[in-house]
Formats: sequence, structure tokens, C-alpha cells
Amino acid sequence: MLVLGIETSCDETGLALYEHGSGLLADALYSQVELHARFGGVVPELASRDHVRKIVPLTREVLARAGRTQDDLDGIAYTAGPGLMGALLVGAAFGRTLAWSLGIPAVGVHHMEAHLLAPLLAEREPPLPFVALLVSGGHTQLVRVDGLGRYELMGESLDDAAGEAFDKAAKMLDLGFPGGPALALAAERGTPGRFRFPRPMTDRPGLDFSFSGLKTHTLTTVKACAPLSDQDRADISLAFEEAVVETILIKCRRAIAAAGIGHLVIAGGVSANRRLRDRLDRDLDAHVHYAPPRLCTDNGAMIAYAGCLRLMAGERAPLEVAIRARWPMTELRPAGLAADAARG
Ligand code: KG4
Ligand code: ZN
Repeated sequence: MLVLGIETSCDETGLALYEHGSGLLADALYSQVELHARFGGVVPELASRDHVRKIVPLTREVLARAGRTQDDLDGIAYTAGPGLMGALLVGAAFGRTLAWSLGIPAVGVHHMEAHLLAPLLAEREPPLPFVALLVSGGHTQLVRVDGLGRYELMGESLDDAAGEAFDKAAKMLDLGFPGGPALALAAERGTPGRFRFPRPMTDRPGLDFSFSGLKTHTLTTVKACAPLSDQDRADISLAFEEAVVETILIKCRRAIAAAGIGHLVIAGGVSANRRLRDRLDRDLDAHVHYAPPRLCTDNGAMIAYAGCLRLMAGERAPLEVAIRARWPMTELRPAGLAADAARG
């Protein structure tokens, strides 16, 4: 089965071709980061218009790179939510319509499910069951995964998501947009031990997170050091990153122990963070699975892969273009056996 995957939930236009049995054949990504940078955040209307400009050329590009035509497609998967309504609408309308015109099935994919499955794209045997840590710009969740669509929420952030906290801290430090990678880069030059930031909600039991106190702590430190030198920026970045990473490590350790499961899958933009990967690899008593960095942040490959699994399990989108800005992952229905479907 050859599936075209389309991601347009936020500020990246991602297209990819995934074939069951062969794997990822081609993927193309256009990031709107420069378009939004001067506003310090994503401007939804500009995002939608830019998706409209890029979606057709990128579709042609992935087909050409894989040496295929649209007539070879067996199905089309597009992100149906959660995300920005206007941005989602572009990918969903294009994908649903193209599938209809070609007489092939379409499926609307849950963006966070796609993130969650991305680390398994290259694995022959998905390690079921596993605990998933989803850390993106909008979500921080620990989820027990027993199969495709079999998700049980174990814990989540009560306020800011981890990626959002990175972005806000980076903004306070004038490090640019998007903040996560910029802050991680600055932290590399940080002086270990100069600052120690709190590890929120780790001194009591539970698997929930809270990052807003860390944000306040960052602001207080920034004000105390002003005017900031580059070294101050690097030192604060390091203390912030260490605090987030260690907090996540502590919660993952608890989740693994509570579930009695030896596999942790980390996914979402923040799972690209080097320090997070290294700490989990080194200090967590479990197998840690993660995707290559370019498949951690938003991309079309994860949508094509998740869509392929759901199409193979028999799922079909109705003819209307249905999208959802908010969509709890626990509302997803189980579909087939992930362990069988994901092989190859
Ligand atoms: O998954 P993603 O691409 O989009 C959402 O679905 O939200 O995640 C984007 C988030 C941003 O907040 C970004 O700053 C963060 O992931 N991020 C990182 C790194 N790369 C991306 N945070 C920390 N370290 C990184 N290397
Ligand atoms: Zn995402």
C-alpha cells in the first residue's frame, strides 16, 4: 500500500510517501519559520496562505523523487487535528479531494498519534506495550500504549507544554524563534553549576507536570542578571534545560515503574533535544526509542506512516472534510493490531 501523507497543522508543510513493505520512499518539508520569526510566534492566517502555496509543488516533488505518479497512490492521509483550523483545512481539503478524484481511500490522522508512532517508522517490531512521552509545542503527556488507538493517559502538563516553556524561556533570553533549538544551542556554552533551577512537582508522587513556575523562575533570574551578557544567557539556558530534562527523567522513571513496562518511546519536537535523549539513554532503566531529529518535529512522514497503519486496519474518512482544532488522543478508537500492521 502506497500512502501520501500531508501535514499542515501548524507552520510546516510536510509531504511524504510511505509504502507498506518498503518504508519511507520520499519526504519533503517546507518550514515557514522565517515568515513568522519577526512576529515572535506563528500567525495563523499567514500559515494557512503559505500552506496553499506549497502543498501542490511539494506533492509533485515527493512523487517525482520516488519515481511514482499520483495514479500509483493507494491512499491519502492528512492531519485532521489538533492544530490551527485554517492550516488544517488546507491539508484536509486538498487530501480529501485528491483522494476522491483518484477514487482511493483517505484517512484523517491525529497529529499526536502520528508523533507517537514516528519513532517506530524504522523499527521492524514495535515494542508493544510501551510508555510514550509526548513532548511538543502544545503537549506534554505520558501515555500507556497497548496498540494502535489503545492509549491510556498516565500524566500530563497542568499548564505549559515542555516545548512552550522552551519557547518562552528563549524569548525572555532574546535567543530568537523557534526557541527550543536556540536555547539548546546556547546551553552548550553554559557554565555548569552557576544556577540551579527547581524541578517542579517532583517532590510529591504523581505523573503530572507543571512548567509555569520554571518560567517565572527564569524571568526572576533574567531580571536579577540584567543587562545580560552572552555568558549569562548561556548559563541560564543550561540551568533551564537541565531542570526540564531532569523533571522529565524523574517522571518517566515513575511511569515506567508504575506500568511495569521496559520500553519508553519519546516523540514530539522536544524529543529532538540532545540533552534529553542522552539523560534518558544513560539514566533510565528501560529501552529508549526515538526518531531521527528531522522526524521528531512536524513532518509528512509520520502522517503517511500513521495513515498507512489506519488505512490497513480498514479505517476510511467520510467524504466531508472533517477537522478538529482540539482532539484528545484518548478519544481515538483502537484499529487492528499495531504489532502486525506496523511490520515492514
Ligand atoms: O512537535 P513540534 O514540531 O510541533 C508541535 O506539534 O507542537 O514541536 C515543536 C516544539 C517547539 O516548542 C520547539 O521549540 C521544540 O519543539 N523543540 C525543541 C527542540 N527542537 C524543537 N525543544 C528543545 N530542544 C530542541 N532541540
Ligand atoms: Zn507536532
